[in-house]
Amino acid sequence: MSLLSNTGKKRILTGDRPTGRFHLGHYVGTLKNRVKLQDQYDTFLLVADYHALTTHPEKDDVARTREHIREAVLANYAAGVDPNKVTYYVQSDVPETAELTLLFMMLTTVPRLERVPTLKDVMRDQQIEQPSSGLLNYPVLQAADILIPRAHLVPVGKDQESHVEVTREVARRFNRVFGAEVFPEPDALIGEVPTLVGTDGQAKMSKSLGNCIYLDDDPDTVKQKVFTMYTDPNRIRADIPGKVEGNPVFIYHDAFNPDIDEVNDLKDRYRTGKVGDVEVKKKLTAAINNFLAPLRARRAELEAHPDDLIDILRMGLKRVRPVAQETLELAREAMGLTSVVYPSLHELYTGRPPA
Ligand code: TRP
Repeated sequence: MSLLSNTGKKRILTGDRPTGRFHLGHYVGTLKNRVKLQDQYDTFLLVADYHALTTHPEKDDVARTREHIREAVLANYAAGVDPNKVTYYVQSDVPETAELTLLFMMLTTVPRLERVPTLKDVMRDQQIEQPSSGLLNYPVLQAADILIPRAHLVPVGKDQESHVEVTREVARRFNRVFGAEVFPEPDALIGEVPTLVGTDGQAKMSKSLGNCIYLDDDPDTVKQKVFTMYTDPNRIRADIPGKVEGNPVFIYHDAFNPDIDEVNDLKDRYRTGKVGDVEVKKKLTAAINNFLAPLRARRAELEAHPDDLIDILRMGLKRVRPVAQETLELAREAMGLTSVVYPSLHELYTGRPPA
């Protein structure tokens, strides 16, 4: 069986944990690449609600996650990820994911997973003393996500690179151990701005640090946030030469202002002490608001039709589920994990009664 989809295109799988609103860092890290590649690749986009359980397993958390699923779809749709081209679905609607995770767990050692850097980060940030085995297996679950559609490419933020590395190892191991080329070894694709600085100048834009400009912020909020942004702290007056490199306002200008001449002019004058912060920030506000305007419009369009949002997920599920079943059939067949009761694995997965 070919690893290519029936359209002859290579496949992308990517996704987001449903934890709330999306910000500019998400856009430059991964959303932008999803939009850019959606014609070239057959793209699968999941809302990773099982992954949300790894840190938030309680009843209230689960209920909140349901609400955030809607937010994840809205954010991707607003960014321009077109549901007519891209297969949107909710991870837990495809239980084959859980089964493939279980199979992959047998091919991954505990020390390997303990070395994944995000585990320590999450435990520190969320004050978790002892990780559940679910949290330890976070990257294995992600490997199952990626390999369910046998994806070749994974557009993700820089922080996810180590999980794609685990995925590559699992795919390689599976193919070697069972002597079959069931899974491709997917590549990570990191955005042009791998980690966007926060408005406060901290290394990373992140909800928990409160230094975000959200994709659905209104124009006034954007203005307020830009005007209180961290710049060159040594520049206490407009006529003092300032530093452009590593300066958040210029990092944002580079990322969101398409008028390169304007940006270069501002940089020249900043370096020589010939421009005030107000002008730099005014132009940045305009650039970010221009960039966000079409996102706000598309978001409003889908918000006005909540049934369409469900249809997007229903349509996607219809496409992905047979792919997932096929992958599990291939995996179990390669392993020799056949059924004594069902005449074929296909019948097991499609729910026909045993003979
Ligand atoms: N772990 C990713 C994040 O936190 C979300 C995710 C889950 C994902 N499964 C994935 C991303 C598969 C890419 C591919 O952002």
